[in-house]
Parts: sequence; structure tokens; C-alpha cells
Amino acid sequence: MRNEKILIIDFGSQYNQLIARKVRENNVFCEIVPPSISAGSIDPGEIKGIILSGGPASVWAKGAPSCEARIFSLGIPILGICYGMQLMTKTLGGVVARSRRREYGRAGLTVTDRHLLFKGLPKKSVSWMSHGDKVALMPKGFRLTAVSKNTPIAAFADFKKRLFGVQFHPEVAHTQYGRTIIRNFVTHICRSKCDWSMRSFVKDSMDEIRRAVVREKVVLGLSGGVDSSVAAVLINRAIGHRLICIFVDNGLLRKGEAKMVRDVFQRHFRINLRCVNAQDEFLENLKGISDPEKKRKVIGRTFIKIFEREAKKAGGVKFLAQGTLYPDLIESRSVFGGPSATIKTHHNVGGLPKRMRLKLIEPLKYLFKDEVRKLGAEMKLPSEVLMRHPFPGPGLAVRIIGEVTRKRCDILREVDDRLIKTIIKEGLYDKIWQAFAVLLPIKSVGVMGDERTYDNVVAIRAVTSVDGMTADWADIPRAALATISNRIINEVKGVNRVVYDISSKPPATIEWE
Ligand code: XMP
Repeated sequence: MRNEKILIIDFGSQYNQLIARKVRENNVFCEIVPPSISAGSIDPGEIKGIILSGGPASVWAKGAPSCEARIFSLGIPILGICYGMQLMTKTLGGVVARSRRREYGRAGLTVTDRHLLFKGLPKKSVSWMSHGDKVALMPKGFRLTAVSKNTPIAAFADFKKRLFGVQFHPEVAHTQYGRTIIRNFVTHICRSKCDWSMRSFVKDSMDEIRRAVVREKVVLGLSGGVDSSVAAVLINRAIGHRLICIFVDNGLLRKGEAKMVRDVFQRHFRINLRCVNAQDEFLENLKGISDPEKKRKVIGRTFIKIFEREAKKAGGVKFLAQGTLYPDLIESRSVFGGPSATIKTHHNVGGLPKRMRLKLIEPLKYLFKDEVRKLGAEMKLPSEVLMRHPFPGPGLAVRIIGEVTRKRCDILREVDDRLIKTIIKEGLYDKIWQAFAVLLPIKSVGVMGDERTYDNVVAIRAVTSVDGMTADWADIPRAALATISNRIINEVKGVNRVVYDISSKPPATIEWE
């Protein structure tokens, strides 16, 4: 078991995942928990430190989130950030001044005490502020450790009790010495061992999986994407052939995908893999459907039916494994600890667990995407799997505008193949979040040789993004665009025109449907 961690109490800050990232950069495991966590459940032997995140509320607002006051007297070091600092102030008897105006952006920080938290910082540096209220009077026992022009109490500390507060955000990149501050907190102040690594994660996870699954079988829907691939290899290491991976070829995949999955997972990793050719079933069910949402529903339903059928064939299956990641987990939880209304359904296999009375296994649920890639690399997964662009569950169906037919899937598969090959050859693949082609439901006139053509138009979409939530169209060099267009029109029969999509998200989305 992991025996050391930092808790991050989430008061609704948009930056709380950043805090977690910055803590983990120090090889210290951390977990984001809701404010409703009880002080009694916090074991000082396991929890080395607590970070109170920022948040949009005012501590004076009705219903403002708060944590149990007893948390401050557990003897565990605490760092309060922004709202977290104000809550610490209010709870421990200081004064928080209400303010209508927000201070937002860069602010010059002057450190007045370089003990512990600010060790190694210069006297003056730049910090990032985003707050309305501020601390007007420190609680008893605290002393001032930093000031800024508009915030006379920019940081404070009770060195004896190891309680610290900062009004600025050390977790954001604009705070010049933010990394040092977080490192000081987790290493010097909390005295973490800093021994959390992907190697230790593999070992801990395998132990955990073996404890949960003693002799039963586990099924996993393997898509060939990063998350399900890494989960498959990890669980396979723990329980071998009692993990049954089901790969469904729905006819909506990229060129060579089924072969790649068989090569990597069956031949190389010797995973118990069932490849199901369900192309006809999917295409039959999609016949005559043009509406994007209907397509998604039909595909989802067909997938569940096939998956259920295959899992039953395997017999004795008690668990369903999924590659759920940490952001999915925390995004589906509200600040107040209750279940949130927005649960991303496209990451899990619909209503399967309940229907088949399966228990869930989600070994990646505490990891971020790039940590999953590191984990995959640790387990020797090829970079061709780890660095792949995201591919939506409904596959090419949401990239074929209008009805999905076998012929149109074949055309788009060939186009996509030429696009991706060119992008790799031009050295652009790893600089782009996602690149793909969309087959449009219109034809246009062209001329090839001396012949008139009347053929399909494809749109190329390539975007840069950090998390897929927002995106910008990629600035692909003109020469590369020319190669892409030439290869597609010359090599793919049925296409005589290529256009480039120059819309950002928002207001457009990455996929067209
Ligand atoms: P949008 O189109 O919403 O896409 O801007 C954001 C990211 O999510 C992917 N995407 C999906 N992934 N099932 C998935 O597994 C889906 O139904 C789905 N729809 C969109 C999309 O490719 C992009 O990376």
C-alpha cells in the first residue's frame, strides 16, 4: 500500500489539478478530497501534509465551503492557498476583509521571512494573484512572511504549528518560484520521503489488483487507445490470463488498427485477447442514420450488446476493468463532496457493470494522462501506442457527415492513412494534439488529366490543445499542407478536393459531430 501522501482539500479552484501535478513532480503521491472529509479519517502516519486549495467563494458567503476546524490541530503541516489561506484565517480567529474588486494577474512579491516555505527565494519575485477578499488581521501566533503592493498580508506562517498561508497561487506557471515553494512544503516542511515513482506505482497497483481479484476473471474493452492499453498491460501483469481483453472491430477504425492491436497485445504482451469482427453488425445498425447523436447511441448500444455477449462466453467474469483517469474522477465530483450531475459517460462501457453485476477495477484512476504515458513506458509499451492521437469511441462514424456506409468508411480510412503518414514524415505528429480527416456529404467538380471528375470533398482537421477542452487549429507549414493534399487527391480514389478547417474550440468542437 502507498503509505505516504499529501491531501489537497478542494474548495472549487480551477487550479486544483495543477496543485496535484506540482506535488507529484516531487515524487510524492497526493489525492484531491472534498471539504467534507472528516478530521477523524485523517491518519497523521499516512498524511504528511494538507493543502487547502483556492476557490471562487468568499468565506463570508452563505454556504461557503469549509472543512472541520479540528483539521488545523492534527499536528499535520498545512498550506492554505488563496481561499484556503482565508479559511485558515477565519477558522483560527483572524480577520478576512471583504472586497468587491478582484485583484487579478501578476503581482510583485516581496518576501519578508525566508524561513521554511520561502527558502531559496530571492527577496523580490513575480507571483500570480486572483482574489477578492484578503487577510486583514492574522490569527494569533502567525507572522508575516511576504507582502505585495495591493496585499499587505500576501503570506503568513505559524512556524511552530507548521501552518502556512499564501494569497497568491504557487501552482500556476506565472508564479516565478511556485515550484520551489511547493517543493519546500512537501519536502522540508512535510518531510515526505519522495519515493513515489512509476515503478512503485506498478508494484502497488499489482498488489492491489491481486488483493481484489483472487481467482475470478476480469473483462476489459481494449480500444488500442492509451488508457485502455496501459490498463490492460498492468492488469495482465497482475493476474495474467484471468484478464480477458475484448477488442471489437466495428468497421469504424483507422487503417491497420486491428492488426496493430493483435501484434502488440496478443503477440508481444501475450494478453488473453478476443478480437471480434462486428463490422457487419455495426454498419447494418447504422444504415440510414445521419443524425450525430443517433449515430452515437446506436454505436454505444451495439458495443454493449457485443461486449456483453463476449463476456458471457468467457464465463465466470466478476469484474469490469476500465481506463478511467484522475481528471474523469474529480470532474465527476462536486466541491461539496456529493455526486455531481456531470459524469462523463463516454469513458465507460455504459450501463454494463450494473446490468451484468460486475465490480469495477480502475487502476489508473489516480493518474493524469502524461503519468499514464510514463506508466506505459515503464511497462515497455511501444511509443506508437503511447503517443497516439486521441480517437473518439464512435470512430470514423462521427467523421463521416451523413450516412455511414462501408464505401465511405473505406474512403475515409485511406484519406486518414495518407494524412497521418505525411504528418509523421514531416515531424509534426507529436506537436499536434490530434489530426484527422472528415468526409463531407457534398461533391465538387474537378479535372484530372483531361477528364472531368465529380467527387468527394474531405476536410482536414488538425488542432493543438493541452487537454482537449479548448483547442486551436494547428499552423501546419504550407509545404506540408501541399503534400497532404497532393497525396490524398492522387492516391485516394473518390476524392478530388481537400480543404483545411481553421476553426478554434470554442466556438467549434474538435470533432465535427
Ligand atoms: P470535441 O469534439 O468534443 O472532442 O471537441 C474533444 C475530445 O474528445 C474526443 N471525443 C470523444 N472521445 N468518445 C470518446 O472516447 C466520444 O464519443 C468522443 N467525442 C469526442 C475528441 O476526439 C477530442 O479528442
